[in-house]
Amino acid sequence: MSASNDLLKRREALLGPAYRLFYEKPVHLVRGEGVHLYDADGNQYLDMYNNVPHVGHCHPHVVEALTRQIATLNTHTRYLHHTVVDYAERLTGKLPAELDTAMFTCTGTEANELALRIARTVTGGTGIVVVQHAYHGNSQAIAEISPCGDMSAELPGFIRIASIPNTYSGEHRGAGAAEEYVGSVADAVDELRDAGIQLAAIVLDTIISGPGVVEPPEGYLAGVAKVAHAAGGLFIADEVQPGFGRTGRHFWGFESDDFVPDIVTMGKPMGNGHPMAAVVTRADILQAFSKEVRYFNTFGGNPVSCAAGMAVLDVLEDEDLQANALSQGEYLKSGITELAEKFEVIGDVRGHGLFLGVEMVTDRDSRAPATEAAARLVNGLKERRVLTGSIGPHSNILKFRPPMVFAQCDGDRFLEVFADALANLNG
Ligand SMILES: Cc1ncc(COP(=O)(O)O)c(C=O)c1O
Repeated sequence: MSASNDLLKRREALLGPAYRLFYEKPVHLVRGEGVHLYDADGNQYLDMYNNVPHVGHCHPHVVEALTRQIATLNTHTRYLHHTVVDYAERLTGKLPAELDTAMFTCTGTEANELALRIARTVTGGTGIVVVQHAYHGNSQAIAEISPCGDMSAELPGFIRIASIPNTYSGEHRGAGAAEEYVGSVADAVDELRDAGIQLAAIVLDTIISGPGVVEPPEGYLAGVAKVAHAAGGLFIADEVQPGFGRTGRHFWGFESDDFVPDIVTMGKPMGNGHPMAAVVTRADILQAFSKEVRYFNTFGGNPVSCAAGMAVLDVLEDEDLQANALSQGEYLKSGITELAEKFEVIGDVRGHGLFLGVEMVTDRDSRAPATEAAARLVNGLKERRVLTGSIGPHSNILKFRPPMVFAQCDGDRFLEVFADALANLNG
């Protein structure tokens, strides 16, 4: 039995079946650098999937900041330490002026949990609206607002689900789609009110990721925020995936529309793999919350995490990675769009920067999901040493979200391999 097969058996026995591995033949990774990952046999993979190592796997500046701080001191937010305050200042400086107060957690789930607690405390409501197939995390409270699993499972009474604003294959596609999709959110809020439930918040990721890398149509996010406010609720922008410059055009996904969310949550890329996450909101909102709650998180906002967060911001700025995401993303997108002229299975190519979705369809008229083709492509790409994944309610949308240090030669490698995988899709 090979070392990797042995590891697989031990893993199955020791971690149990709730965990899933990617790919028909799982990859056993041992090392990462920049946009590359290396398996136990020394093979190099192009990482087109992982947004957590935001500024590149094992970026030396982040590694150095982490090791320096962990060798000096690690405590928590009950002691004075300048790094947490400096980081909070630098992070809030990346957001509109009214979003001036930060609280730290370790995961995106925890950030969303805290955001829900804040929204419920401040509004006095319990009702939550999310879109179909949304994913916001893994705790009990957040799994309840993440209807991406079994849609036949009964939802808690305080949840209502709105349509995914997918203007390619969703319910509304043409002009006026943004208003229609805002209307679906307004209907969900009305249903809550009719059931006697006060809205606490509408929670949206601002590039709607799990439901298929859906870029909301112009005006949708601002329209949804208006709906939330009119009902006495808050708008929580989940920036766990689109945040930190990934879309190239803006630092945060919500900036694609002209409005300011009440609460912003963030995580994954923040510490380049070190577990750190945050909630940023207005001082008046936290004033109201802190009258009811005293918050402590043992690990959230510790000096080591904040040193990692600082180093990520340094690299983003020093290496101009948001601009890189924009230009490399456009290069990739135009290359994939060219491939779509030849391969009918590619229905839609969307997204910006290094956050692209490619919706695979069985035919372009019906736009029916090509679920099997997407699975074969994901595995075919992996066999050709390019790592990616598929998402969406039908798992037919390929998701490309590589580290932000992605270069044009990486785009060329990907496009060549993708063309070959597409050409051999039925072979
Ligand atoms: C949009 C979104 N929000 C929240 C989370 C939860 O983050 P974490 O896994 O760090 O708890 C995820 C994780 O995939 C996510 O994609």
